[in-house]
Amino acid sequence: MKEVVLVDGVRSPNGRAHAEKGWFRNRMPDELLVACYHALFARNPQVKPEMVEAAYIGTANQGGVTNDMGRLAWLAAGLPESVAANSICQQCPSGMSATEHAARAIMCGEGDIYVVGGVEDMGKMPKGMYLPKAVADKYGEWDLQMGPTAEKVAAMWNVSVEDMNLFAYWSNKNAAAARDAGKFSHEIVPIEGHDLDGKPFMVDSDQWIRGDINLEAMAKMKPAFKPDGVITAAMSSPLTCGACAMILMSREKADELGCSYTIKYVGGAMAGNEPTIMGVGPIAAVQKLLARTGLTIDDIDVVELNEAFASQSLAVIRELGLGQNAPFDKVNLWGGALALGHPLGQSGARIIITLNNIMKYERPDAKLGLATLCGGFGNANATLWQRV
Ligand SMILES: CC(C)(COP(=O)(O)OP(=O)(O)OC[C@H]1O[C@@H](n2cnc3c(N)ncnc32)[C@H](O)[C@@H]1OP(=O)(O)O)[C@@H](O)C(=O)NCCC(=O)NCCS
Repeated sequence: MKEVVLVDGVRSPNGRAHAEKGWFRNRMPDELLVACYHALFARNPQVKPEMVEAAYIGTANQGGVTNDMGRLAWLAAGLPESVAANSICQQCPSGMSATEHAARAIMCGEGDIYVVGGVEDMGKMPKGMYLPKAVADKYGEWDLQMGPTAEKVAAMWNVSVEDMNLFAYWSNKNAAAARDAGKFSHEIVPIEGHDLDGKPFMVDSDQWIRGDINLEAMAKMKPAFKPDGVITAAMSSPLTCGACAMILMSREKADELGCSYTIKYVGGAMAGNEPTIMGVGPIAAVQKLLARTGLTIDDIDVVELNEAFASQSLAVIRELGLGQNAPFDKVNLWGGALALGHPLGQSGARIIITLNNIMKYERPDAKLGLATLCGGFGNANATLWQRV
């Protein structure tokens, strides 16, 4: 099988998906993806768009907003009609799933060059989507919602309020430090947005990161999902919009074109779990991947774990043996979704782009990197990457 390398990845800044306060409130999600496509080809002039075999784009809930978002954004970007694009939906892991599909296609020789990524604007998705009655009856409509799943995981895994606030604190602190040191400039494409007064400006950083986060203020926050609950907005990834795209290539084609790369794809695993505790899905996905590759968690040098909620992140980190309490020495070194945001379809690919940059710039000694995330209705994915 062919080796698959990650040549380059870019992302939009993540904006709040808020009708009045969001910096990208006046933009549609495809526009964020178009900016990523353009930046990707501008940064990699030796890769001509017509050389791409196909684009795979993850999107969790944009069906209903428009048709095939990956394809329409590709056409909107003025890219060749002859290159097909495929939108892939697997809730939060959509962007990771898109990456895995392309990697497998390269491995088995279907093509050499793929664009993969993801996109979501959680402020512009259809409300009140259909839920099959059999599923609602079995699991409960309320229990299937994301906030309630975070409550249930906190209770079942005994994750305390203090530990969740500490986790959110470090996510924001690490993200702010990375932003202030310019580390996200390796991946962020500035895109025009609007400030609170409606004035246009170039957005070049994520909107949600709180550098001045305060544990005392967080301790006073009210529960977000039920009156007697424990999960607050600070312990939850915010409603976000954003996009990302990267180039995956067979190693031989990358060498032929003179493209540089840092990591190669080792493999991926998906695992399903009980939907009302969907957040702990990465435990099984990672264990499956480690077993399949003959590794243990101690062999992994860097981890990007999508922070849907602090409760599920801590449950996963603890169960996998990655530590007890934030700050962690190899997990989410540049912060996570609690600070950076979680535009559903984007995140699974975004954490791979960030993992690549962490392995390139922050931990040049790291040999193996893991990216994993949970997904609504109990779908989790994990992918393993190795320094070449
Ligand atoms: C939790 C949630 C309901 C809150 O949404 P919201 O009520 O619209 O509120 P916001 O995100 O704007 O935040 C609520 C308030 O808490 C404040 N807040 C958030 N984090 C804070 C922190 N760390 N410290 C202090 N205040 C904080 C905000 O500033 C805001 O106050 P303001 O309105 O005065 O500015 C929403 O973010 C959510 O649903 N998140 C989960 C999304 C999801 O399910 N994703 C998929 C996961 S699988």
